[in-house]
Amino acid sequence: MRLAFLIALGGLMLAGGFVVTSSGPAAADDPAQGRKIANMCRTCHGIDGYARVPIAPHIGGEPQEYLEAQLMAYKTGRREHEMMSVVTASLTAQQISDVAAWYASHNAVATLPDGVSAEAAPQACVSCHGADGISQLLDAPNLAGETNIYIDTQLKAFKRGQRQHDVMSEVAKDLSDEDIRALADWYSAITLEIESPSE
Ligand code: HEC
Ligand code: HEC
Repeated sequence: MRLAFLIALGGLMLAGGFVVTSSGPAAADDPAQGRKIANMCRTCHGIDGYARVPIAPHIGGEPQEYLEAQLMAYKTGRREHEMMSVVTASLTAQQISDVAAWYASHNAVATLPDGVSAEAAPQACVSCHGADGISQLLDAPNLAGETNIYIDTQLKAFKRGQRQHDVMSEVAKDLSDEDIRALADWYSAITLEIESPSE
């Protein structure tokens, strides 16, 4: 893994993120509307975004930009999943913004396991995903406390081209199954708590 290359990519992504943000949709997002839509999501992701089933990821407190982009990717077929493709087919772009705003209004708090130092974190990932799995970028997800099955599956999907992304396809391409397992174990061992917004 070439770290300098990845850091350079991180800079590019940040620059790109500002462009997207400044030309974003004009309609205001409504987290209160989003909370109602989240009733469709709660059996799997919880109303607060703390996953209730092992195959679903935690989404509470993730960047709104990331959540919205993934929901649109499922809706348009750029990312495919039997459950999420069906869920997003019935949502409008406004409803997607609203439900993304609801989950993003939470606060994700990560704690490393006892006796584990942040310096031991996978250096190739920390510039974007943080040592503790809290995203450093608007368009990258938190990894803290996701199940190792979920992280493993996503890294293999990037590696095999079933899920595509400029940076992550490049990152995953040279990872062995053992690397993937070790990376998944690092981030899944972190404890995640999700704080609800005060109402
Ligand atoms: C039946 C269970 C189920 C329901 C209901 C469901 N999801 Fe999901 N969701 C999943 C699973 C499983 C995945 C992982 C899919 C994959 O591997 O691509 C996922 C992935 C996602 C992701 C991508 C997260 C990431 O880190 O990349 C988002 C965002 C998401 N769901 C939001 C929602 C929202 C919002 C709703 C309600 C409108 C919803 N989901 C309803 C099971 C569900
Ligand atoms: C330069 C920034 C950057 C670096 C470095 C990076 N990632 Fe990512 N990662 C991203 C972005 C951006 C996404 C969102 C991709 C998308 O939109 O599909 C992502 C997505 C992911 C996902 C999908 C999670 C989900 O919720 O669906 C996993 C797993 C992941 N990265 C793991 C890693 C690991 C492990 C490393 C280190 C080996 C790493 N990443 C390095 C930026 C980065």
